[in-house]
Amino acid sequence: MNQDGADKSRRRFLTAATTVVGGVGAAFLAVPFLAYWKPSAKARAAGAPVEVDVSQLEVGQLINVEWRGNPVWVFRRTEQNIEDLERLEGVLRDPDSQQDQQPEYARNKHRSIRPDVMVLVGICTHLGCSPLFHPDSRPQGMGREWHGGFFCPCHGSFFDLAGRVYTGVPASTNLVVPPHYFIDDDTVLIGEDEGAA
Ligand code: FES
Repeated sequence: MNQDGADKSRRRFLTAATTVVGGVGAAFLAVPFLAYWKPSAKARAAGAPVEVDVSQLEVGQLINVEWRGNPVWVFRRTEQNIEDLERLEGVLRDPDSQQDQQPEYARNKHRSIRPDVMVLVGICTHLGCSPLFHPDSRPQGMGREWHGGFFCPCHGSFFDLAGRVYTGVPASTNLVVPPHYFIDDDTVLIGEDEGAA
Protein backbone atom coordinates (compact mmCIF):
# COMPACT_ATOMS: atom_id res chain seq x y z
CA MET A 1 0.00 0.00 0.00
CA ASN A 2 1.44 3.37 -0.90
CA GLN A 3 1.67 6.22 1.62
CA ASP A 4 -1.46 7.87 0.37
CA GLY A 5 -3.35 4.62 0.65
CA ALA A 6 -2.01 4.03 4.12
CA ASP A 7 -3.13 7.49 5.24
CA LYS A 8 -6.58 6.95 3.88
CA SER A 9 -6.78 3.58 5.52
CA ARG A 10 -5.70 4.93 8.83
CA ARG A 11 -8.14 7.78 8.66
CA ARG A 12 -11.11 5.81 7.54
CA PHE A 13 -12.10 5.33 11.14
CA LEU A 14 -14.30 8.28 11.02
CA THR A 15 -16.24 8.70 14.20
CA ALA A 16 -19.08 10.98 13.47
CA ALA A 17 -20.96 12.89 16.09
CA THR A 18 -21.83 10.53 18.86
CA THR A 19 -23.60 11.99 21.79
CA VAL A 20 -24.40 15.59 21.08
CA VAL A 21 -25.04 17.65 24.14
CA GLY A 22 -26.59 21.07 23.71
CA GLY A 23 -25.66 23.72 26.20
CA VAL A 24 -28.66 25.97 26.47
CA GLY A 25 -30.94 25.37 29.38
CA ALA A 26 -29.21 22.24 30.60
CA ALA A 27 -28.56 22.01 34.31
CA PHE A 28 -25.98 19.32 33.97
CA LEU A 29 -25.37 16.54 31.56
CA ALA A 30 -23.57 13.27 31.71
CA VAL A 31 -21.67 12.56 28.55
CA PRO A 32 -22.37 8.90 27.81
CA PHE A 33 -21.22 7.10 24.72
CA LEU A 34 -23.88 6.59 22.16
CA ALA A 35 -21.74 6.14 19.12
CA TYR A 36 -23.52 5.27 15.92
CA TRP A 37 -20.38 5.05 13.91
CA LYS A 38 -17.31 3.71 15.59
CA PRO A 39 -13.94 2.41 14.57
CA SER A 40 -13.63 -1.36 14.39
CA ALA A 41 -12.53 -3.28 17.47
CA LYS A 42 -9.23 -3.95 15.77
CA ALA A 43 -8.70 -0.28 15.07
CA ARG A 44 -9.60 0.65 18.63
CA ALA A 45 -7.14 -1.87 20.01
CA ALA A 46 -4.46 -0.41 17.80
CA GLY A 47 -5.22 3.08 19.03
CA ALA A 48 -5.92 4.34 15.54
CA PRO A 49 -6.49 8.08 15.23
CA VAL A 50 -10.08 9.23 14.95
CA GLU A 51 -11.22 11.74 12.41
CA VAL A 52 -13.97 14.13 13.46
CA ASP A 53 -15.93 16.46 11.21
CA VAL A 54 -16.43 19.62 13.25
CA SER A 55 -18.33 21.47 10.54
CA GLN A 56 -21.63 20.15 11.90
CA LEU A 57 -20.76 21.00 15.47
CA GLU A 58 -22.91 23.92 16.51
CA VAL A 59 -21.67 26.62 18.80
CA GLY A 60 -22.30 25.45 22.36
CA GLN A 61 -22.45 21.76 21.46
CA LEU A 62 -20.29 18.97 22.77
CA ILE A 63 -19.77 15.59 21.17
CA ASN A 64 -18.19 12.52 22.63
CA VAL A 65 -15.96 10.30 20.53
CA GLU A 66 -13.91 7.28 21.45
CA TRP A 67 -10.17 7.07 21.10
CA ARG A 68 -8.15 4.21 22.58
CA GLY A 69 -11.18 3.20 24.59
CA ASN A 70 -11.39 6.60 26.25
CA PRO A 71 -13.99 9.32 25.85
CA VAL A 72 -12.74 12.40 24.06
CA TRP A 73 -14.89 15.49 24.16
CA VAL A 74 -15.02 17.94 21.29
CA PHE A 75 -16.82 21.17 22.16
CA ARG A 76 -17.47 24.29 20.10
CA ARG A 77 -17.00 27.25 22.40
CA THR A 78 -19.02 30.41 22.15
CA GLU A 79 -17.31 33.79 21.95
CA GLN A 80 -18.40 34.32 25.53
CA ASN A 81 -16.82 31.02 26.59
CA ILE A 82 -13.52 32.12 25.09
CA GLU A 83 -13.66 35.47 26.87
CA ASP A 84 -14.58 33.85 30.16
CA LEU A 85 -11.47 31.67 30.12
CA GLU A 86 -9.49 34.84 30.79
CA ARG A 87 -11.32 35.55 34.01
CA LEU A 88 -10.58 32.45 36.02
CA GLU A 89 -6.89 32.64 36.80
CA GLY A 90 -7.37 33.25 40.50
CA VAL A 91 -9.43 30.12 41.08
CA LEU A 92 -7.41 27.64 39.02
CA ARG A 93 -4.55 25.44 40.16
CA ASP A 94 -2.60 25.53 36.89
CA PRO A 95 -4.11 28.30 34.75
CA ASP A 96 -1.11 28.48 32.39
CA SER A 97 -0.85 24.72 31.87
CA GLN A 98 2.63 24.42 33.32
CA GLN A 99 2.18 20.75 34.00
CA ASP A 100 2.48 18.32 31.10
CA GLN A 101 -1.16 17.56 30.56
CA GLN A 102 -1.25 18.75 26.95
CA PRO A 103 0.87 18.89 23.81
CA GLU A 104 2.98 22.00 23.45
CA TYR A 105 0.60 23.50 20.86
CA ALA A 106 -2.17 23.44 23.47
CA ARG A 107 -0.19 25.19 26.17
CA ASN A 108 -2.20 28.37 25.91
CA LYS A 109 -5.18 30.01 27.59
CA HIS A 110 -7.74 27.89 25.80
CA ARG A 111 -5.63 24.73 25.76
CA SER A 112 -6.50 24.06 22.15
CA ILE A 113 -5.27 24.74 18.65
CA ARG A 114 -8.33 26.75 17.69
CA PRO A 115 -9.84 28.87 20.46
CA ASP A 116 -13.33 27.79 19.44
CA VAL A 117 -12.71 24.03 19.36
CA MET A 118 -11.96 22.28 22.65
CA VAL A 119 -10.57 18.71 22.55
CA LEU A 120 -10.17 16.94 25.91
CA VAL A 121 -9.95 13.42 27.27
CA GLY A 122 -13.10 13.14 29.40
CA ILE A 123 -11.57 11.37 32.36
CA CYS A 124 -11.10 12.96 35.76
CA THR A 125 -7.45 13.29 36.72
CA HIS A 126 -8.20 12.31 40.31
CA LEU A 127 -9.26 8.67 40.11
CA GLY A 128 -10.64 8.31 36.64
CA CYS A 129 -14.38 8.97 36.83
CA SER A 130 -16.13 10.68 33.95
CA PRO A 131 -17.05 14.28 34.80
CA LEU A 132 -20.43 15.80 33.98
CA PHE A 133 -20.86 18.67 31.57
CA HIS A 134 -22.24 21.85 33.15
CA PRO A 135 -22.25 24.29 30.27
CA ASP A 136 -24.03 27.10 32.06
CA SER A 137 -25.21 26.32 35.52
CA ARG A 138 -23.09 26.20 38.60
CA PRO A 139 -22.82 22.68 40.01
CA GLN A 140 -23.92 22.10 43.56
CA GLY A 141 -21.04 22.80 45.91
CA MET A 142 -19.38 25.25 43.57
CA GLY A 143 -19.12 28.49 45.51
CA ARG A 144 -16.57 30.20 43.33
CA GLU A 145 -16.49 31.94 40.00
CA TRP A 146 -18.00 29.69 37.34
CA HIS A 147 -18.59 30.17 33.63
CA GLY A 148 -19.41 26.61 32.65
CA GLY A 149 -17.24 23.53 32.70
CA PHE A 150 -17.16 20.00 34.05
CA PHE A 151 -17.92 18.58 37.45
CA CYS A 152 -16.76 15.18 38.68
CA PRO A 153 -19.33 13.88 41.17
CA CYS A 154 -17.16 11.06 42.48
CA HIS A 155 -15.25 13.27 44.88
CA GLY A 156 -16.17 16.79 43.80
CA SER A 157 -13.62 18.14 41.34
CA PHE A 158 -14.37 21.12 39.10
CA PHE A 159 -12.83 21.99 35.73
CA ASP A 160 -13.43 24.94 33.43
CA LEU A 161 -14.24 24.82 29.71
CA ALA A 162 -10.56 24.33 28.92
CA GLY A 163 -10.32 21.41 31.34
CA ARG A 164 -8.34 23.46 33.87
CA VAL A 165 -8.80 22.24 37.41
CA TYR A 166 -9.99 24.51 40.19
CA THR A 167 -8.02 24.90 43.39
CA GLY A 168 -9.08 23.07 46.52
CA VAL A 169 -10.53 19.97 44.85
CA PRO A 170 -9.26 16.38 44.89
CA ALA A 171 -8.00 16.39 41.29
CA SER A 172 -4.57 17.99 41.15
CA THR A 173 -4.02 18.37 37.43
CA ASN A 174 -5.87 19.68 34.41
CA LEU A 175 -7.73 17.30 32.13
CA VAL A 176 -5.57 15.79 29.42
CA VAL A 177 -5.51 17.26 25.92
CA PRO A 178 -4.86 14.41 23.47
CA PRO A 179 -2.59 14.84 20.45
CA HIS A 180 -4.60 16.24 17.58
CA TYR A 181 -4.41 18.51 14.56
CA PHE A 182 -6.64 19.93 11.85
CA ILE A 183 -6.42 18.15 8.52
CA ASP A 184 -8.48 20.97 7.04
CA ASP A 185 -10.87 23.64 8.32
CA ASP A 186 -13.61 21.12 9.02
CA THR A 187 -11.74 18.07 10.19
CA VAL A 188 -9.72 17.32 13.28
CA LEU A 189 -7.68 14.16 13.64
CA ILE A 190 -7.52 12.98 17.26
CA GLY A 191 -4.70 10.74 18.37
CA GLU A 192 -1.82 12.03 16.34
CA ASP A 193 0.39 15.10 16.06
CA GLU A 194 0.73 16.81 12.73
CA GLY A 195 3.57 15.30 10.74
CA ALA A 196 3.79 12.25 12.99
CA ALA A 197 2.59 9.80 10.36
S1 FES B 1 -12.44 10.72 40.41
FE1 FES B 1 -13.05 12.76 39.96
S2 FES B 1 -12.98 13.72 41.86
FE2 FES B 1 -12.28 11.73 42.31
